[in-house]
Amino acid sequence: MATGILQDDAASLLFPKGFLWGVSTAAHQVEGGNDNQWSEWEKAGHIRSHDKCGKACDWWNSTEVDFDLAQSLGINALRLSVEWSRIEPQEDCFSESALQRYRQMLEDLHKRGIKPAISLHHFTNPRWFEQRGAFLNADAPARFERFTRRVVDELGDLCQLWVTFNEPNVYSTLGYVTGEFPPGQRGNIPAALRVMAAQARAHARAYRVIHELQPQAQVGWAHHYVVFHPVNNGLDRFVARVQSLIFNEGFFQLIEHGGFKFPFNLVGGSAPEAKGACDFVGLNVYNRFHVDFDLKSAGQLFGRVYVPAEAPQGDSGVEKPYGEAFPGAIRAAVERAARFGKPVYIMENGVPDARDRLRPWLIVNALKETHALTQEGHDIRGYFHWTLTDNFEWAEGWWLRFGLIALDPNTQQRTMRASGHLYKEIVRNNGLTKQLVEKYSQAPQQK
Ligand code: BGC
Repeated sequence: MATGILQDDAASLLFPKGFLWGVSTAAHQVEGGNDNQWSEWEKAGHIRSHDKCGKACDWWNSTEVDFDLAQSLGINALRLSVEWSRIEPQEDCFSESALQRYRQMLEDLHKRGIKPAISLHHFTNPRWFEQRGAFLNADAPARFERFTRRVVDELGDLCQLWVTFNEPNVYSTLGYVTGEFPPGQRGNIPAALRVMAAQARAHARAYRVIHELQPQAQVGWAHHYVVFHPVNNGLDRFVARVQSLIFNEGFFQLIEHGGFKFPFNLVGGSAPEAKGACDFVGLNVYNRFHVDFDLKSAGQLFGRVYVPAEAPQGDSGVEKPYGEAFPGAIRAAVERAARFGKPVYIMENGVPDARDRLRPWLIVNALKETHALTQEGHDIRGYFHWTLTDNFEWAEGWWLRFGLIALDPNTQQRTMRASGHLYKEIVRNNGLTKQLVEKYSQAPQQK
């Protein structure tokens, strides 16, 4: 049965009762003043825009303004991450005051009728952990388990939905293959695979600890899924498949089978304890890339990955396009994740778009796709838009703006974008009207 203001008839696309309408955020991007491997990376001059994270959205001091705005949108869920470097600033020394600060945030969300979802790891590591080799150190899974136990002990009564790792495939690929994230290694595919396997082992330990402390909890991870679209058949199709195998499939295989498939198992190690360790699959879905066979792209296994100029896309990164905004990616990701036979949450979806030119179209069409999938029987339990308020976008700094709410980081002034109002209307209706679907049937022209 569906609920909401709309009638459940042919004139509306209603979502199931209890569907989570949320937004996603991450500690380093919103809190300000963190001291972790990313703050080191920033000091070393690696932010392409040369921006400073600074106070970010100032959440460490106050979440009041943004939580009030979240409440005004009518959403019933918000995903945030807890910052490991604040909670365990030195190895095995935990900060009670940091844990209390997170308790406060979670209570403040509950007071506003918003269910929290917590990510335990969203790209950032304490510096002591990074200095010991991060996930390449054999002790990493045990260290992550100890951190998880402490967090769940302290905060478990306020949260039921846990994301262990955000995007292990992005963390490992950007950190060890493209060098865009710390530690900035390039071309080290074996290290990237070993990091992914270690994260799967750490995930499995966290999965078990959370269930030991909270048997009813729902535990999963958030998987970044990209569509690699071959331009033509033949070799283009082959290289696109290789890109997808490396980027999309690695972590899926670790959780599905406890190890990589051939040939990645030869160098990546395994994670037998991770087999089947998830209650849901979280999907972060943004982009499609076009791929053709190109002898000059040896570093990318002979696949040239690009975005055609005419494809709908939001604002470009400092040095390269962010990607083609492609609502159909949700279908590809959900159909792949269905092989787990577990519920799915769209844990992130969005577009960098300071002027809000494309975002309304993206939201409506991503939700249209999500709705169609639920009608076909896929058990999709929620949609979390990335993000609430513009925040610090990793190596792009303040250059890319993903918020339903615009932020001036200097004055901390917030302004609701039109897409914020639109999301509010959709949430209030628990679905889309046919008029909305018609209005946004065409992507705005690329300029
Ligand atoms: C990450 C977010 C990031 C977003 C937009 C996701 O891959 O989880 O931290 O801000 O994409 O690029």
